[in-house]
Amino acid sequence: MAAITLQNIVKKYDDGFPAVNDVSIDIEDGEFIILVGPSGCGKSTLLRMIVGLEDITSGELKIDGKRVNELAPRDRNLAMVFQNYALYPHLTVFENIAFPLRLNKAKFSEEEIKKLVTDAAKRLELTDHLDRKPGNLSGGQRQRVAMGRAIVRQADAFLFDEPLSNLDAKLRGQMRSEISQMQRRLGITSVYVTHDQTEAMTLGDRVAVLKKGVLQQIASPRELYEQPVNLFVAGFIGSPSMNFLPATLEGTYLNTPIGNIPVPPATAKAAEGKELVLVGVRPEFFEDAALVDDRHRGNGSVFEAEISHTEWLGNEQYGYIDFEPTPEVAAVLQGLAKDMDADELRPQIVVTLDAASRIRGGQPAELWLDTRKIHIFDPRTGENLTRDAEAGAAATREAAQVRGEEIARARQKDQAAAH
Ligand SMILES: Nc1ncnc2c1ncn2[C@@H]1O[C@H](COP(=O)(O)OP(=O)(O)OP(=O)(O)O)[C@@H](O)[C@H]1O
Ligand SMILES: [Mg+2]
Repeated sequence: MAAITLQNIVKKYDDGFPAVNDVSIDIEDGEFIILVGPSGCGKSTLLRMIVGLEDITSGELKIDGKRVNELAPRDRNLAMVFQNYALYPHLTVFENIAFPLRLNKAKFSEEEIKKLVTDAAKRLELTDHLDRKPGNLSGGQRQRVAMGRAIVRQADAFLFDEPLSNLDAKLRGQMRSEISQMQRRLGITSVYVTHDQTEAMTLGDRVAVLKKGVLQQIASPRELYEQPVNLFVAGFIGSPSMNFLPATLEGTYLNTPIGNIPVPPATAKAAEGKELVLVGVRPEFFEDAALVDDRHRGNGSVFEAEISHTEWLGNEQYGYIDFEPTPEVAAVLQGLAKDMDADELRPQIVVTLDAASRIRGGQPAELWLDTRKIHIFDPRTGENLTRDAEAGAAATREAAQVRGEEIARARQKDQAAAH
């Protein structure tokens, strides 16, 4: 196991295009780091530089404090965990796991191989399947075989590049929790590339959000969600996405296309002196006003809007409100959509309503908005003007603590099982 340090890493391909631009990340021993961002933002390039499959143009890469820029991939002792197609169909599970050891014939006796493979199989709950062929295993079992191969090598870290991208949604969900539990049990440093924000949020101890080769923010999923640094991170993380509403400040009110919203003094202050701001509101900050009890009402404000249509999902429902943007706002929304590799950011607000809500499309509705939670963004720079850095850092510290405790518990369990 190892810590991996990226210091001002730059990658310029032959055509001079900076695919990765000045990225610095400290990955702690045992940490699960996600690299996320739209297609072409440099995730794979960054991962390939860590394993050694791609030269580093400038900057320094360290494993446990030692510079490894010049080391060949095999000397870095990191394991790329590929998708299931990397398993050999004609070999048994045992032989698939033993494969990297056999390649290293001089080093391991038959007896040592047997011990390493059976130990790994035990940790991965594959003992009963050692004589079977990969083709007869479930997707989750195959993934574990691939991890077994990395384990017997006693690699210092696991690196994953979109390992679940061509699985169907249900299997992807199962594999996600397999990988997450395994990583905890093994306590092994992992770097995982994905452009799926759900994978990023559920797997990562910390998530690094990249845009066009530049690191935007690295933080726990909760910090990214609650205290994003800019419009890009705010819009990329979360599904359905955060709504962005143009607004101008009038005293303690924000004048928006859905009406005047009274906001807390600190929020109003952030918008002071700006001609135009973008208000960031997550869909779940809204609720059907009829379902908000008096105790909570005071934490937000009630307004009337026409919902164009609703979608009932069983556990909740989505309501949609259209608004007419000015050309300036339309341009900002277009630019943002382009950055995020999204089709189009429609001038539309998505609100999540309780499944019991009787609000229906085509009629005016009374909605409640939790104004404590909204963020204000500068439409020109994208900066989040209401970010609470202290609250964000606290969320990330808490996540790190939880991870430490989980790994310790998993180790205790493993030790108890070994006796
Ligand atoms: N061998 C190469 N030569 C030149 N440019 C490259 C090369 N490989 C990648 N690039 C460019 O570098 C940028 C980053 O590519 P990379 O593969 O790292 O993106 P990614 O974030 O993994 O995207 P995806 O989600 O589509 O896999 C892209 O703009 C790509 O066109
Ligand atoms: Mg890629």
